[in-house]
Amino acid sequence: MVSHSSDTDHPPQPQSGRDSFAQEREDLSPWFFTLSDCDSPICWKQLFGNEHPTELDIGCGRGLFVFNASENRPKTNYLGLEIDFKEGRRAAKRLKKANRANARILGGDAKRALSQFIPKESVAAIHVYFPDPWWKAKHHKRRLFTAEFAQQVYQTLQPGGLLHGWTDVFDYWELMSGHIQEIEQFKELPAPQERFAEHNMDYQTSFERKKRLAGWPIYRGLWQKES
Ligand SMILES: C[S@@+](CC[C@H](N)C(=O)[O-])C[C@H]1O[C@@H](n2cnc3c(N)ncnc32)[C@H](O)[C@@H]1O
Repeated sequence: MVSHSSDTDHPPQPQSGRDSFAQEREDLSPWFFTLSDCDSPICWKQLFGNEHPTELDIGCGRGLFVFNASENRPKTNYLGLEIDFKEGRRAAKRLKKANRANARILGGDAKRALSQFIPKESVAAIHVYFPDPWWKAKHHKRRLFTAEFAQQVYQTLQPGGLLHGWTDVFDYWELMSGHIQEIEQFKELPAPQERFAEHNMDYQTSFERKKRLAGWPIYRGLWQKES
């Protein structure tokens, strides 16, 4: 399954100076691993050392959600998936600092991870927060949330599993919820309400903080796969 041996095979990342170079070199195992470290489907029990439910945060960025959720719910495991290794390592560094046992970051394309390494019907919840909007029409094909991705999410969730999808882009919200509604076995649940943030880290994600502070509306969705 996963050998936490190296993460040195990632695509070249911009180096902005000595600090970022040092960050690239820091050993972040077992908090950060990549798809190249996976040679068979991930076994959650082996990865986390327990049989607690596992949740995925797809496109986790700097990992605020994974960090807060893994602290607040120690009996749940969290795996953040992030294609940008620099962001993923940043997320992992915070987890390492907190010595967080129930959270890991997987560097690589989430779609590939879902098709090859995340076992079907194995996760209790999938979180997709603020996927890149790719504003220009010619770039829409780069968007994460396609009909195929909605199917992957569906197949990966356990029966009764939850899908959380949030965005600040109305156009993307329509696209995302449209693809989810195409799958009849997804039942829409009441959308979560905006929560008062008690401090600067008390947001669902970094993007939620950024968009709320800028006064943008946030579209929040919650769906459940039929049991
Ligand atoms: C706009 S950011 C949002 C980050 C975080 N969810 C938040 O709300 O703060 C979108 C993130 O998704 C990541 N991403 C885009 N496509 C991805 C893919 N195919 N697999 C994994 N991560 C992806 C990007 O690198 C980026 O960090």
